[in-house]
Amino acid sequence: MNIAETIKETRRIVKEWKMQGLTVGLVPTMGFLHEGHESLIRRCAAENDKTVVSVFVNPMQFGKNEDLEGYPRDFRRDSRICQEAGAHLIFHPCPEEMYPPDFFTYMDMDTITEGLCGGNRPGHFRGVCTVVGKLFHIVSPDRAYFGQKDAQQLSVIKKMVRDLDFDLEIVGCPTVREADGLAKSSRNTYLSEAERQQATVIHRSLRYAEEAIAAGERDVKTIREEMIRMISQQPLADIDYVEFVDWGLLQPIEKLEKPALVAVAVRFGDTRLIDNYLWE
Ligand code: PAJ
Repeated sequence: MNIAETIKETRRIVKEWKMQGLTVGLVPTMGFLHEGHESLIRRCAAENDKTVVSVFVNPMQFGKNEDLEGYPRDFRRDSRICQEAGAHLIFHPCPEEMYPPDFFTYMDMDTITEGLCGGNRPGHFRGVCTVVGKLFHIVSPDRAYFGQKDAQQLSVIKKMVRDLDFDLEIVGCPTVREADGLAKSSRNTYLSEAERQQATVIHRSLRYAEEAIAAGERDVKTIREEMIRMISQQPLADIDYVEFVDWGLLQPIEKLEKPALVAVAVRFGDTRLIDNYLWE
């Protein structure tokens, strides 16, 4: 497995592969890899001749008061996980490599970035679109892999690829969970023992929504109120949002019609956790 810290070196390696007629898959990450990332890398390795994993904590997608400085990092461990999961190249640039001092160009999107996480994290999706657009240009992958756990991000990237004519396929992958249902996340390491226990309510509330919908309930207000009641019962939980949106432009809905996304964001102390259920 290769490790490249520069754009030039990454391009050189990928070019060689392409000249041999090999297909290339990309898994963008911010590192501190867990089984969720690993499932994306394994799938990518199974579906492409060569797998590139990018490990880059992207400063542009963090707000001023967010956890950029404290975001967990362990590159040696990440390298081992990438290697074991079948990656051929890690692209691991420093911030200056991606954003030289005279950097002024951005990719951005309206409408579907305005609600959910976009509403509460202004500028977040501009940072995500810009870095992912750059990674697509640098690696020129045939396929790129994203987790359904970040459903709005997956939807935003699919739309960006379509709107700006990137020549690649976006592959959405299922959410990997802990045994008690909590979605795996690099940020779970921030949680105290009590917060960790109470955080399972996020998945429980989504399971409740899933079951209510399966039983025929179509009124958003009824399900949403019960979800909010469940989450609020946990003293350390502070709800950011519980939203029902259509799985297209991600606009709020009142009556459930397929396909719809039930999305939840909850703070435990300074840690913000997200999860969702897609009804399709
Ligand atoms: P990061 O949070 O490191 O996640 C990288 C990829 O792993 C994303 O596609 C995310 O949806 C996926 N992922 C995270 N947890 C998962 C889980 N429990 N199950 C399945 N997939 C999971 O998302 C980002 O980084 C960044 O915004 C990035 C796209 C790299 C741009 O900087």
